[in-house]
Amino acid sequence: MIRRATPLDRSWLVDLGARAFAVLGDYRDILPAWLAQDNVTAWVDELAGQRRGFTVVGFFHGDEGENVADLLAIAVEPAWQSRGLGRTLLDHAVAMASATAQAGRLRELRLSVADDNVIGQRLYRTSGFHRVTGEFGAYPGGQRAVRMIYPLFRTP
Ligand SMILES: CC(C)(COP(=O)(O)OP(=O)(O)OC[C@H]1O[C@@H](n2cnc3c(N)ncnc32)[C@H](O)[C@@H]1OP(=O)(O)O)[C@@H](O)C(=O)NCCC(=O)NCCS
Repeated sequence: MIRRATPLDRSWLVDLGARAFAVLGDYRDILPAWLAQDNVTAWVDELAGQRRGFTVVGFFHGDEGENVADLLAIAVEPAWQSRGLGRTLLDHAVAMASATAQAGRLRELRLSVADDNVIGQRLYRTSGFHRVTGEFGAYPGGQRAVRMIYPLFRTP
């Protein structure tokens, strides 16, 4: 079951994120800073009281003043990976952003992924995201950031 994260999930979420993204940088500071923002929401997948994975989505104004949703983080506990949970969590994030798109003219759900994260990029591509050309900076670990987007709403 996927549910909204509560403050009680925070230490588990930060711990999993820090482990999952260790090659990119130190997420023990980055994740709490995101979670403290009112425009950032997190969801947790839980089965029989066991937390298995999460997504973190922020809602921001883009460079051109447009409304965008940003999938800031997605991770699945290693013991539960490669069983379809990552795709289920991603589908849920897309559905949540799409529901917001209906109401708020949100243009896209975007994300950044490391250029060497083949598994992540394959997951996103096969879930309907496409890669955007351009320069999107680098992670503290040195990996180039790849930008991918899922279009939600097109103004006429
Ligand atoms: C990326 C991540 C969330 C995927 O979660 P998951 O539950 O393992 O993924 P799923 O089982 O739903 O598989 C989804 C797709 O990911 C890819 N994938 C998953 N495990 C894979 C593996 N061992 N080898 C290759 N591709 C794999 C496949 O494309 C798969 O789709 P398919 O089964 O239709 O081929 C998970 O691996 C993770 O937490 N990784 C560490 C954190 C991370 O990299 N997050 C993304 C950074 S932006």
